Amino acid sequence: MFRSKITGLGFFVPENIVSNDDLSKLMETSDDWISERTGIKNRRWVNDKKLTTSLMGTYAAEKAIADAGIDKNDIDFIIFSTLSPDYYFPGSGVLLQRNLGIKEIGALDVRNQCSGFIYGLSIADQYIKSGMYKNILLVGSEIHSGGLDKSTKGRSVSVIFGDGAGAAVISSTESENGILSTHLHSEGKYAEELAVIKPATTHWIDKIKSDQTDESYWPYMNGNFVFKNAVVRFEQVIKEGLEYSNLNIDDISLLIPHQANLRISQFIQKKLKLSDSQVFNNIMKYGNTTAASIPIALTEAYQSNLIKKNDIVVLAAFGSGFTWGSAVIKW
Ligand code: COA
Repeated sequence: MFRSKITGLGFFVPENIVSNDDLSKLMETSDDWISERTGIKNRRWVNDKKLTTSLMGTYAAEKAIADAGIDKNDIDFIIFSTLSPDYYFPGSGVLLQRNLGIKEIGALDVRNQCSGFIYGLSIADQYIKSGMYKNILLVGSEIHSGGLDKSTKGRSVSVIFGDGAGAAVISSTESENGILSTHLHSEGKYAEELAVIKPATTHWIDKIKSDQTDESYWPYMNGNFVFKNAVVRFEQVIKEGLEYSNLNIDDISLLIPHQANLRISQFIQKKLKLSDSQVFNNIMKYGNTTAASIPIALTEAYQSNLIKKNDIVVLAAFGSGFTWGSAVIKW
């Protein structure tokens, strides 16, 4: 059996920086409130109409392919994770294939929101372990800014989310090092606690036109409930991943949690008794970029030389669905 390994990383964020003070001009909020509750200082919001989710994903992918030192035509499968695709259908994976101008390889879209990158990594890992593919391109990309209610009514959601894209090349290796495990979970009974309900097959286009006041076109989040579930599930799934490989909390070189909220990361850090240097956070700069948050954070940590050969790197995510998951990697 083969093992899979992350061989290339890259990310792209739009140039336009939106600070908490900028938001306080759009809605009743403040830098104090946002910083204290979420740790976020800035986020990127697309202001160039030409920039789409698939195009940002393409820019991140080009960097990851260059970092892997392979040719784009060596990629033999695409996995694209997003909750904010360019189109309702087709998915963004085929648009990425077109943008990259590569051969007619398979392209799969993953709809698992904040857990999308971990779900995608798990799929890539299985395909590579089975020997079906050698180099898989995994992209997480989101444009949230176009779909947020930026009035005071939507402030508890809109201040949290940012735009961005991250990508990884996952390749087959004969080395002992690589992805040791992935664990995935879901609990659909809480599907509506963090969701955008419409447009949907039960509420189609005629409804959008006739019902401008319908709030179900905006993201809804039961913030307190999400927070309480997130801290429990993060801890469980991190421990589940470590136990699978007979590792302990002390073995973690670097934990990269999905950047949901700095308070959630700090809560997990405290519960697991990890030091500041064992947990990587960059939500302060980018906000919550959902499927893109882990690959952006992983790339930044890697480029800052915070990850060395043989390190145990743990990725973990929780989000809408609810879905959650972890990946344990020996770098
Ligand atoms: N600016 C100023 N005030 C705001 C605000 C904002 N952006 N958003 C909400 N408020 C107000 C509320 O209206 C409320 O006012 P009230 O007391 O007069 O009714 C008050 O702040 C408290 O709101 P509440 O929603 O109870 O705050 P909270 O402490 O639960 O914090 C979150 C809100 C969203 C920051 C918090 O619940 C959270 O982080 N949850 C997890 C979210 C998350 O991680 N989501 C992604 C998962 S992948």
